[in-house]
Formats: sequence, C-alpha cells, structure tokens
Amino acid sequence: MKPFPGPPAHWLYGHAHEFSQDGTDLDKTVVWSQKYPYGHQVWFGPFTAYLAVYHPDYAKALLASSEPKDDVAYRFMLPWIGDGLLINSGQKWYRHRRLLTPGFHYDILKSYVQEIAESTKIMLDKWELLSTKERSVELYHHISLMTLDSILKCAFSFHSNCQLESNNSYIQAVYELGFLASERFKTFQHHYDLIYYLTPNGIRFRRACNLAHEHTDKVIHQRKEALKNEKELERIKEKKHRDFLDILLCSRDENGIGLSDEDLRAEVDTFMFEGHDTTASGISWLLYCLAQHPEHQQKCREEIQELLGGQEKFEWEFLSNMPYTTMCLKESLRLYPPLPGVSRKLSKPLIFPDGKQVPAGCLVALSIYSLHRNPNFWDDPEKFNPLRFTPENSENKHHHSYLPFSVGPRNCIGQHFAMNEMKVAAALILNRFELEVDEVNLPIKTPQIVLRSKNGIHLKIKKLEK
Ligand code: HEM
Repeated sequence: MKPFPGPPAHWLYGHAHEFSQDGTDLDKTVVWSQKYPYGHQVWFGPFTAYLAVYHPDYAKALLASSEPKDDVAYRFMLPWIGDGLLINSGQKWYRHRRLLTPGFHYDILKSYVQEIAESTKIMLDKWELLSTKERSVELYHHISLMTLDSILKCAFSFHSNCQLESNNSYIQAVYELGFLASERFKTFQHHYDLIYYLTPNGIRFRRACNLAHEHTDKVIHQRKEALKNEKELERIKEKKHRDFLDILLCSRDENGIGLSDEDLRAEVDTFMFEGHDTTASGISWLLYCLAQHPEHQQKCREEIQELLGGQEKFEWEFLSNMPYTTMCLKESLRLYPPLPGVSRKLSKPLIFPDGKQVPAGCLVALSIYSLHRNPNFWDDPEKFNPLRFTPENSENKHHHSYLPFSVGPRNCIGQHFAMNEMKVAAALILNRFELEVDEVNLPIKTPQIVLRSKNGIHLKIKKLEK
C-alpha cells in the first residue's frame, strides 16, 4: 500500500485507538479523506491493514467487480448471520442471488405496502400515548420494532405481536451483536477466535447469537408447519410470485434437492437483520433531519396530506407521487447512510483509473460516509439540502458519488423494498405528528455495522390537530 500513505499510526495498535465511539469516529474519517484525497492506509493492530477509499472513481473501480467480501470484518458476523447472501461469494452467491431476486419483484413489493402501513399505524398509536410537546421520546427503538414487524410479515408470512410485547429479545440481541462485532474489530487480539470467545465480550456475543437464532428458528419452524397443510401449499404453488421464505423453502436444485438447513437459516438470519435494521436506521435519521429543518418537514407534510386527502390509507401509486419527501429521504441517506461502509478482499490486483494499484490479498474499504461528504463532489457537504436531488441538479453528478445501496453485482437486493418502506413510514408519521429536536439529547453517531446513535434518537413528537 506504499502509494497510499496514511495518518500516523501507533506501532502496535495502528489507528484502532483513534476510534472511541464518542460520536466523532465517522467525522474523523472525513477529515482524513480530505487530507489524503483518494485513499489511505488504516491499521487495526500490527497485522490488519485496509486501504480506505472514498473517491467516486475509486468506488467505481472497486464495486464493478464481484470481489469477495473482506475476511476480517464480515467474518465477525459469520456466527450470527451465517454464510448467507451478504457474506458468501462465488458460485454459491450467484445461485442464491438468482434464486432470491424474484422475491423482490414489483408485484410482490406492491402487495407489501398495506402490510408496512399497518405496522406503521401500530407504532403511531403507541406514540399517541407518549406524545407531549415538552418531553422527548426515544424513537429508534420503536422504529426498529416496526421495521421488524414489517419484514416478518412481508418476507416471512410471520404475524408477530412484537410491537406490543413489553420487551423483544431479538431486537436487543441484534443491538448487542452489532455493538460487539464493531468493538471486536478495534481490539486486534480479539481478531483471533481462540482468544475472543474466552473474553466477556466473546461470551456475550455467543449468548446474543443464540437468542437471535432462537427467533429465526421459530419463524422457519412455523412456516414449515404451515406448509404441511395441503391447502396452504396449493395456495403458494398457484401464486405467480412467492414471498421470500416460501422461495427458500420450495427451492430445488436440478437433482430435486432443497437448501440445507444451514443455508436456509443463514439466509433467514441475513434477511431478518438486513431487512429491518438498515431501514430502522434510515427512517430514524430521516426524522431527525426533518426535525432539524421544520421548513422541509412542513413541505413534505403538505405533499403527503394532499395525497392522503384526510385518510390514513396509503396507496401504491402514492410512492411515485411524493417527490419532495423522496428528495428529503435521499438527502438524509446521503448524510446518514445506514451502511456507512463496505469492504472487499482482492483476489487479483486492482488498478485504479489514475494508474495507482494495490496487490491481490489487499483489504479495501469504501467509506460511503466519507464519499457522501466529499467536498469535491458535494457543495457545502454538511448541509441538509434536499434540492441537490432535483432532476436538474442530479444531471451532472458523478454516478458513483452517491451510493447508499452500493452498486454493481453486490448491490443491495432489498433497495426497492427499503425505499418503499421508508416512504410509507415517513408519510404516515408526518401525517399524524409534528417533530422537534430535543436540544439536550442530541444523537451521537456510532457505526455498529449500521449507523446508529449511541443514545438513540430523541425527538419531541406532537400530535397534529385533525
Ligand atoms: C435503507 C436501507 C438499506 C440500505 C442503506 C442498504 C444498503 C446495502 C448496501 C450498501 C449493501 C452492500 C453491502 C456490501 O457490499 O457488503 C447491501 C447489501 C445487501 N442488502 Fe441492503 N440495504 C438496505 C435495506 C435492505 C433490505 C430491506 C434488505 C432485505 C429485505 C436488504 C438486504 C441486503 C442483502 C441480502 C445484501 C447483500 C446482497 C448481495 O451481496 O448480493 N437490504 N445493502
């Protein structure tokens, strides 16, 4: 990585000590990205180094190929989400991606809109009991439960009562797993399984994994039982488009053999996590941005109220008729990308457009967060300005300067589902509530696989007069 010098590093810890989870970690990476405009080295201990990149041309070069995911950061998630679509590579990835793509067909997504709206309304009814103008409410947790409820219904035909239960062990386990996986990364001794699983954090990680797996096993078991019913099986066979879990359960290879239990659970764990935690982050940060900017919040509300016409029934057609809200959503995904970074391990040398290159075996991490705040491609990058995304202003943008869902063969398979869910939720929330920032409880950004806030997202929510 000689062509890419980096900030001074400690001889043993490298840069790991620079990351303290005090809310400045991501901003530090932005400062470095401005000092080293294309890429720089970053070390986690004496043996693990990444090339961090954040220039659109570099992002394009990295994501055009289907290089495998890196075998350090993603490996820490393996005991939890298994070798599913997010982590696997080669022929297995290709087969599973082809198998699962029809689960996100337009007709299927259309049928999900009502399910998402129902889940959102359950959450809003809860908020009515909590809302006062004076006191703020921590919303991230409520939103996580709502997005979990939605993905369970949509992808897994599992009708849970998770939003109304007093505590949900799966959501707590996911929070714990995200936190522990990112902590593990920063302590190089913990990179070794033998050491890690003897530490208190390793023990906590195993326990949280077991809790998460209990939840997914329950979902799989219930659907398998339902499919033993001839009528239910017939109903699915007649359906033109099956939902995600039914695709997995009914899939057969050329020899008539279905997915192994291990592969099945890995995919369910992957989609259960990716399908709710990312959108919970996206919706939470969007609400925070709108609370900070009442003028944009009001414009979105007017647009939505006109569509809804005094009702709370959300129609599929509305999704393509809410341009202002969509621009605000895109802008919040720019400032607060739910997945702030992705990384790869090169199987062959990678030559960047400026001729610089790194060898096979190198770990390359794209910081989506720094890319989205690169001042060479975004004017006044820290400012929330949804008008960046008007059709005219989008025309001359570098195609790889905005990548919340990544691009190329390993892009996000759930991006249309995610955009729909975030729009439905935003519309119904703004139709019922006014949002205001709680100045004494401002969020502390923390990347824990997804972008969270260390202290949650506290907003004052006030019910609107009818
Ligand atoms: C705002 C919401 C979301 C964002 C910002 C997001 C972002 C991303 C990004 C950046 C990647 C690339 C990861 C990498 O290269 O390692 C990805 C992959 C993936 N996403 Fe999403 N995602 C979101 C929602 C969802 C949803 C709702 C689902 C499922 C229903 C989902 C399922 C996946 C899967 C399975 C992959 C791996 C795809 C593959 O490698 O073939 N995501 N997502």
